[in-house]
Parts: sequence; structure tokens; C-alpha cells
Amino acid sequence: MFAELAEPPLDPILGLAQLLARDTSPDKVDLGIGIYQDEQGQVPVLDCVKAAERWLVETQPSKRYLSSAGNADYNTQTRGLLFGEGSDGFTRSRTIQAPGGTGALRLASDLLYRLRPGGRVFIPGPTWPNHPGILKASGHEVVVYPYYDMATGALRFDEMMATLADLGANDTLLLHGCCHNPTGADLDLDQWGAVADLVAKAGAAVLVDLAYLGLGDGVDEDAAGLRLLATRIPEFLVASSYSKNFALYRERVGALTLVGGNEQAAVLAHAHSLPVARTLWSMPPDHGAAIVARILSDAELRQGWTSELTTMRERINGVRGRLAARLAEHGGRNYGFIANQRGMFTMLGIAPEGVETLRRDHHVHLTSSGRVNVAGLNSNNVERVADAIAAVSQN
Ligand code: LMR
Repeated sequence: MFAELAEPPLDPILGLAQLLARDTSPDKVDLGIGIYQDEQGQVPVLDCVKAAERWLVETQPSKRYLSSAGNADYNTQTRGLLFGEGSDGFTRSRTIQAPGGTGALRLASDLLYRLRPGGRVFIPGPTWPNHPGILKASGHEVVVYPYYDMATGALRFDEMMATLADLGANDTLLLHGCCHNPTGADLDLDQWGAVADLVAKAGAAVLVDLAYLGLGDGVDEDAAGLRLLATRIPEFLVASSYSKNFALYRERVGALTLVGGNEQAAVLAHAHSLPVARTLWSMPPDHGAAIVARILSDAELRQGWTSELTTMRERINGVRGRLAARLAEHGGRNYGFIANQRGMFTMLGIAPEGVETLRRDHHVHLTSSGRVNVAGLNSNNVERVADAIAAVSQN
């Protein structure tokens, strides 16, 4: 069974780790996988996380099973973070913990397939490369809607709306909540409103992928689109993650939040998601969720997290500006959009051969799609990387 298998293709993001490890240059720059690196190029554990882990070691009475829903405090805190504690969105939603944002997406996808078999899921072009695989694994047909103009760095909003006019009552629209991956280009609030109206008219379902909350302009600012959605449409799903904003990557800390037309509908949707989770992973790992629950419910730790998150966000937005400014000095293509986009990513519009040249000749590693993780830039490498990009673009 195994011996005849052909070598599978490398994952477009995770596969980069092998190429990076093979590069022995001391100057190599990792702009591939979406992780936040500090000014020194390190991926540290947050101080608030260390403090919560110490608290957990000292106070956790038992490691007995919880339930398929996971950690109850974590689930309540997650709803509070998304919608604001006590808000209407908070009241008419319920959360189920999941192993990372990927687990939350797969849970949402399987649940949607059970509720709306045969429906299509509309995803942005481009999107996170794992989206189509997750959705197809549940059985969905995937349709790509135009989203981003690689040449100008602008949204293709009119074309997007024209394609979404085809959404039917059995279909689902996938949106990125903020800090769009891979482009960094987000809908503004007027555009969120127009999309909400279109979806309400079509009766389609909405799944929001929210993996970068707080890394764009701030937690409340980044949740604004989501919160607007809650005022315009009765039901939707949110797959969220604490991988990036708590730097908990390997702990796999995600959540699926189900918003209903009223509280009772949310409770019912939640009850229907539990057997789906039971067949996928039975129950999610607790460690990361217990840490997040502790941090969000303790005033001092939460304040510490807010300030560590602010440091990450301001550093990312700072290097965005520096990258765009250095590229502007070279003339040629206008890269001003990099400074205005948000989150970890931007798309350079560089062909795979150019990406290969960056890797081989300049030791700058990015995905072959031309996606750059700007959170891997720092004072030591930003100008060198900009010069390399300019050289490759001019060729
Ligand atoms: C990314 O887009 O780089 C991250 O979300 C990591 C991943 O799992 O792909």
C-alpha cells in the first residue's frame, strides 16, 4: 500500500521550513510562515503567557476530561473578546473550543455540510492556501470570488460583489475578519455593510476566519467588521485563533463561535456542533485554552497582554512603513500599498521565479505565491530585503 506511493508535493507554507533549514547563510531572512518575530528575529513566549503557565502549574487540581466543548471559561472569554461582554452578539452566540484556527475551520466546514449539504462555499482569490483543502475535505464545492488586484495592491470590490450576486440560500461566503491572509487588504466598514446586505438578501451562510485579531489596528478596531455583521444578519459562524495574538502557535488554541438569531438558536447550534467535534478530535487540548482563559479573566494579566499585543502590532506597522519607504527610493513599481495594509502579510506580485531568485541569491525566504510575512522584518534586514525585492522586480 505505501511502497508504490509517489512523493507528495510540499505544503506551500509549512514546506518552506525545509528550504529555510537548508540555507546555511547567516543572513537568511524568514518571511515565510506566519509567525511574529521580534526585533532580534526571535519568537518569544509572551510574559503574560509565562505568568499564566506558572499559575496553572500551581493551581490546576486535575487533568480529568472536560467535554467536546472544551474549556468553558475560555469559550465565554472568546465571545466577550469578539463581540464585547454583555453585547447583543455576545448574548446570542456560543463558542466551542477547537485545536487551532484550522480545527475551528474544519469544524465549521463539517457542520455547514451537515446543515446545508450540496451548498457551495465562496472563498476570496487569493486566500490562505489551506482553505480550499479544508472545505473540500468536508465535501463542499469551492468557488473563488475576485478579491485582490496583484498589480495595484487594491481590492477588486466591484468584481467581488458581482460574483457574490450568484450566492444562493444553500451557499456559504467565507470572509477574512481582519488582516487578510495573504494580501493584508481588508474590507472597510461600508464594504462590510454592503456584503452583509447582499448576504441577507441571498439567505446565504457566512463563515468569518479571524486569525489575526488585534494585529491590525487594535482588538476593537479589528473586530468592527464582525460586530457590524452581528447588527445586520441573524446567523453566522466565526473561526478564530490565538496562535498569533498570544504567540501560542504550537499549543493549537482556536475556537468556533456560532451566532444565532437569538440565544436559544445559538445554544441549539452549539449542541449540534458537539457531535461533529466528537468525531473529529473528541475534545480539544486544554493547556493553551486554560492559559488564554486565565489571561483574559485576570485584570493584570489582561493588561499585560494588551501591552504585549500593542508592541507586536506597532512593530509590524512600523516595518511596513520602512519597507514601503525603502522600495519607493528605488522608483519603478509603486509599493505604497504595503504601508496601508494590515496584519502580517502583503503580496508582492512577484512570479515564482523571482521568489526563487530571492531565496537563492539573497537568502530571503517567502512563499512561492509572493506572500511576504512583514513580521519577519527588523532594523537589521528591512533595507537589505527591500533592495533585493527591488532588484528582482526590475528584472
Ligand atoms: C500562515 O498562513 O503562514 C499561518 O497561518 C500558518 C499556517 O498554518 O499556514
